[in-house]
Amino acid sequence: MENLSTGIEGLDMLMDGGYPKGKSILVTGPPGSGKTILALHFLHRSCKEGKKCIMILTRELTEDIISQSQNLNLDLKPFLKSGQLSIRNIFEDKMNKIKSVSKFGKGLCAVDTDIIEYLNSMSPEVDVVVIDNIGVMAISHDIREFADEFSSISIILLKSGCTSLFVMDEDSYDLTHRLTGYMVFGLLRLTTQENFSSGRTKKYLYIEKMRNKAVPVKYSLFDITPDGLRIITGMK
Ligand SMILES: Nc1ncnc2c1ncn2[C@@H]1O[C@H](COP(=O)(O)OP(=O)(O)O)[C@@H](O)[C@H]1O
Ligand SMILES: [Mg+2]
Repeated sequence: MENLSTGIEGLDMLMDGGYPKGKSILVTGPPGSGKTILALHFLHRSCKEGKKCIMILTRELTEDIISQSQNLNLDLKPFLKSGQLSIRNIFEDKMNKIKSVSKFGKGLCAVDTDIIEYLNSMSPEVDVVVIDNIGVMAISHDIREFADEFSSISIILLKSGCTSLFVMDEDSYDLTHRLTGYMVFGLLRLTTQENFSSGRTKKYLYIEKMRNKAVPVKYSLFDITPDGLRIITGMK
């Protein structure tokens, strides 16, 4: 099976080369655990390797994501300029469309139909898709609707041969009975362990599922540094 580098050396080693090409991986974890940074590494590396990439944002501001990438030496701006990366911000797009303040709230829902529409019109040359954060879809739906919407998104991406990374916050993941974990090829969970007496936190990455791969070490200690995510233990 061909792999795409995660952009993090230690993680590539743990996952026998990286993310399986053409498949979907879900990353979940609490706020601040490093999900977006994990996604930035993948996008930066994929762009550097000449792949065509798309990032779909549902809540965060595009400018914040760009400056986050710059702070971590994973600058995405050059790739945006060259057109190799495009960032689609579902929420900002909607806000721009809705001019009248009175319509706010009513017109801003249905993030998922926007994602589906966008993916359906996507160029067939796209190699990599990152969606940060699909958790917002969980809020406006019951569990069956959510499962259907998520399946639609997954199937579109699988059929287009895209290697995809879905970011989902842990609360939405739990709220949807961890259903998305069953529907993806691989599942990575980031956890933060707090030690109140020392005031330090330890971060762990858990490769909970990776179909077709024998993952040697499931739990690995990692750190977030000025250069992004670094795996500390659990390397082969
Ligand atoms: N230079 C840095 N050094 C140490 N930690 C950092 C640095 N930059 C960001 N972080 C940590 O990364 C966290 C944000 O990671 P992010 O991937 O955005 O989280 P999320 O899981 O919410 O997407 C911050 O809470 C901060 O603790
Ligand atoms: Mg994030």
